[in-house]
Amino acid sequence: MVRLLIVFLLTTITASAMQLPSAPVIAAQDPTVSFNKDVLPILQKNCQVCHRPGEVAPMSFLTYEGTRPWAKAIKEAVLSKKMPPWFADPRYGDFRNEPKLTETEIKTLAAWADGGSPEGDARDKLAPIDWPEGWRTKPDVIISMPVRHNVPAKGSGEIKSFLVPNPFTQDTWVSSIEIRPTNPSVVHHVMLQVPEDTPKPAAYSWGATSPSTCIPLPVNAVNGRNVQLTKPPKNFAILEAVYVPGSPVTDFQFHDSAKLVPGGGNLRIEVHYTPNGKAVSDQTRIGFTLAKKPPQHRFVTLAPKSLANPRKSIPPGEPDWETRGELEFAEDAQLVWLMPHMHLRGKDMTFTLVAPNGREETLLSARFNFNWQLGYELEEPVRVRKGTHLVVVAHHDNSANNPYNPDPNKAVAWGNLTSDEMVLPWFGVIVDRNVDPERILSIRQDGCGITDGVIAPLPVRAPTVPFPLPTRRNVK
Ligand code: HEC
Repeated sequence: MVRLLIVFLLTTITASAMQLPSAPVIAAQDPTVSFNKDVLPILQKNCQVCHRPGEVAPMSFLTYEGTRPWAKAIKEAVLSKKMPPWFADPRYGDFRNEPKLTETEIKTLAAWADGGSPEGDARDKLAPIDWPEGWRTKPDVIISMPVRHNVPAKGSGEIKSFLVPNPFTQDTWVSSIEIRPTNPSVVHHVMLQVPEDTPKPAAYSWGATSPSTCIPLPVNAVNGRNVQLTKPPKNFAILEAVYVPGSPVTDFQFHDSAKLVPGGGNLRIEVHYTPNGKAVSDQTRIGFTLAKKPPQHRFVTLAPKSLANPRKSIPPGEPDWETRGELEFAEDAQLVWLMPHMHLRGKDMTFTLVAPNGREETLLSARFNFNWQLGYELEEPVRVRKGTHLVVVAHHDNSANNPYNPDPNKAVAWGNLTSDEMVLPWFGVIVDRNVDPERILSIRQDGCGITDGVIAPLPVRAPTVPFPLPTRRNVK
């Protein structure tokens, strides 16, 4: 997926690498390390994608004047690996969108701060990057949030949901979906989904379609909310597209695949806003590029609704609550993308493939940070044979040590509200185009028997989550 900006970035990386003088060994407090010669190329390659006017980072690193006051903070942020944001354990997996900041470059940034942060010779300065303005794809169909949303200067973040009429009257193959906030500086992430109109409690049988022996909770007992079942349940949530700051456009065209956007009804645009010190407004738009021909493969982004055991909430103060779930592929597939999603107590998530012969391969093990919805794009698609298991292990931290935890004295139930918790392992797969997304995998959920599983019944999502979210700046 997600090719265009990557290609663009690679081009700029190569361009700047070519103009770089051969890297000298950098000594701490080396006053010859200058902004123009040494630092700017690193910022262009690794940081400006977010650190420029209008983008998500609050300060711009395009110029010497803008960067100089941040020299010490930059040193700290790169030494501590806080920046660029990346949470994958380096022992596992190779990812296309992994930051490329090297140890030598980290030393260079530190030496620049220690050596008095000089500007250096203007002749050393690279030409500024021509960052793309406007659409990066050429969308055939554009939708927009129905209204501008005002984001106040201060306050905690909030998640807003907007329903818009689906522009497609019938199921339509699209080759890319580009999500474009009009004001990226306050947009933490955006998700595009086809809303499900009913709660979806489901029994699901491990490796079969017969009813489960692991009895689901009575529907009206879910978190004390009274919900009615009006349609057969679905076990997987489907995501049409996601936007994360600094990440490229979602392009489905590789391996002759496309996404099938179901026609009719509404689409839901969900935007997580984080105030940035100035009162602004945003009206996120979404552009679809139609596939020129029906593809061979279907690109599906999905997650089991929740893998957690609905009968056990996370006890107060619990620092390391483990949830384990297993999915079994009922179809051959190629895995291309992973995105752990949890809420404020989320701590880490690991995805491991277990082949029918028992061979294990950990694809991703990532710390979870609520402030960043990072997706991890596998360097090469991983071919998965029917019968392979995908084991997901997640941990939650409900202790006082978790700076995001609003209340360590409270037991936390499972559900869609931000005050609840969830284990939502999103992943992107490419399958044969005739495969029904509900039938790609079967599920074994935590807390159920060896052979049967059940998916936690989830309440209908409230249109707006009435829960204060931390902003990036009020949590360290
Ligand atoms: C994906 C977007 C993104 C990229 C890439 C990125 N940053 Fe940031 N950066 C942010 C955001 C958003 C903030 C403000 C919120 C925060 O501190 O988490 C920030 C904050 C910072 C801060 C302030 C930290 C503090 O403690 O207040 C520094 C310094 C910084 N970035 C340096 C860098 C450097 C150097 C790079 C490149 C090597 C980089 N960033 C790459 C998004 C990014």
